[in-house]
Amino acid sequence: NKKILIAPSLLSADFSKLAQEVKAVEKAGADLLHLDVMDGLFVPNLTFGPLVISSIRPHSNLIFDVHLMIESPERYIKDFADSGADWISIHAEATKHLHRAIWKIKELDKKAGVALNPHTPLEIIKYVLEDLDYVLIMTVNPGFGGQKFIKNCLSKIKELKELIEKRGLNTLIEVDGGINAETAPEVIKAGAKILVAGSAIFGEKDYAKAIEALKSST
Ligand code: DX5
Ligand code: ZN
Repeated sequence: NKKILIAPSLLSADFSKLAQEVKAVEKAGADLLHLDVMDGLFVPNLTFGPLVISSIRPHSNLIFDVHLMIESPERYIKDFADSGADWISIHAEATKHLHRAIWKIKELDKKAGVALNPHTPLEIIKYVLEDLDYVLIMTVNPGFGGQKFIKNCLSKIKELKELIEKRGLNTLIEVDGGINAETAPEVIKAGAKILVAGSAIFGEKDYAKAIEALKSST
């Protein structure tokens, strides 16, 4: 399946050698690099911010897909854009002014995405869908790598796919959490185009083989 894009999540990489890890997944055939930013408030974990992203930036030509799991993300959108993010997704649950935050991303000429927790209904993006380049459907509760895929999310992906088609949009569907060779075929069938995978790539010895396994799964 050539149209499927793979976004390795750096969260499962060896943090003592980030530049090497990024180069390795780029060489192994990754399409994007997924960067999970956590603030210990929106999610019960902490990761890294713009400083780390700008340090990695010169070591890679991959599209930097920055997933902001932080409260009131509008406060830091400019910093992440400046750090080298190409795509920025914010959680619908994390901001009071979703439309304003989306446009903050777009005005900086970055691709804008909205992420939805597993329990969050699609209704929340009903009136902003036209403004989005992609929707990030969480298939685990955000916060940690290596969690189990939540099957109930499959129908949400399908419904979103139908909604996008009904409105004649090109919005991409990205899925994140518990994606591996077993779950990939199901999310692809439901309509996902971009697969985020942390442990299924960085947890394997051969990154190229792991990426190919996800790409070719049907
Ligand atoms: C979870 C993060 C994911 C995570 C995915 O909060 O948003 O990107 O790294 O890890 P796996 O693929 O191991 O579920
Ligand atoms: Zn993520």
